[in-house]
Amino acid sequence: MTDLNVSPVRTADSEAIGEAAQLLREGRLVAFPTETVYGLGADATYGRAVAAIFAAKARPQINPLIVHVRNAEQAAEYVAFSPMAEELAARFWPGPLTLVLPRIEGCGLSLLVSAGLDTVAVRCPSHPVAADLIAEAGLPIAAPSANPSGRLSPTHAGHVAEELGRRVDLILDGGPTPLGIESTVIGFAAGRPVLFRPGALAREEVERITGPLSAPTLGIVSSPGQLASHYAPHAHMRLRARELRDDEVLLGFGPSAPREAALNLSPSGDLAEAAANLFAMLRALDAKGAGTIAVMPIPQDGLGEAINDRLARAAAPRGAGP
Ligand code: TXA
Ligand code: MG
Repeated sequence: MTDLNVSPVRTADSEAIGEAAQLLREGRLVAFPTETVYGLGADATYGRAVAAIFAAKARPQINPLIVHVRNAEQAAEYVAFSPMAEELAARFWPGPLTLVLPRIEGCGLSLLVSAGLDTVAVRCPSHPVAADLIAEAGLPIAAPSANPSGRLSPTHAGHVAEELGRRVDLILDGGPTPLGIESTVIGFAAGRPVLFRPGALAREEVERITGPLSAPTLGIVSSPGQLASHYAPHAHMRLRARELRDDEVLLGFGPSAPREAALNLSPSGDLAEAAANLFAMLRALDAKGAGTIAVMPIPQDGLGEAINDRLARAAAPRGAGP
């Protein structure tokens, strides 16, 4: 039974944030904005609450969650920082960087957040609503993107309401998320920095501190979110399109986009703007019922790496991956 009159969406004022914090302490689920995408949050120390996240998203339990914290001091209660990890946190937190670090035994986090790995992904978000919520709840918050598993990440509260509405106790509406693409995930293998997921912090920025980042070891899915098919709209996708074919809608990029382009990720060719628009525009074109979304080429530098990563996954055969 759907009752559209009991929409759990609330404007993220201080009263609503207080209620959301209370719900989290009671082991319930709250969706909230971060600077990247909306997250589906629960108390990271409470196994049943964390399990409810997996159930709401229909997420495979082999895919671990990011734990959101107030600052590096709080993160250090749960994970062991190397000097390089400390430097990254000092430089980029709060912000769109997730660090995968060794889990401290007996740290109090639910084992489910690590999905059986001996590491935990930690991130300190800069969005004021997320920061206030974490502080007020007084808890580390486990939060994946607030979408059904394998689908496009939500950049508006309405996206969460549409797809997960009845499975979430409260959705804090903080408007569109400013960066629009998920955090960059960095881990370490034998002490060497590894780019697990390109994201809203450009590789070049991270490499200024770490030196060259490696790719995850071939054949080992050390960051399970890197399954091939992910971020999928309902339509098929055709990438690096330069012309429009039958039964396609064109997603443009830059000033050279043809007039037939239904939408343009960034008319001026700005990659930050394109990242911010990516998921919302894919959703909008999907809603038009097109058979295929054709996307113009996007340069690979800066945030282009993360955009092209999400596009490639959106275009991958459905159900691909382990
Ligand atoms: O921007 C973001 O990161 C958003 C907001 C809500 O913070 N969250 C997000 O979470 O994108 P999610 O669950 O959709 O993606 C988390 C990624 C996945 O690729 C997951 O496999 C990886 O981080 N990850 C989490 N814990 C890990 C771990 N211990 N080791 C390796 N990868 C991990
Ligand atoms: Mg996700």
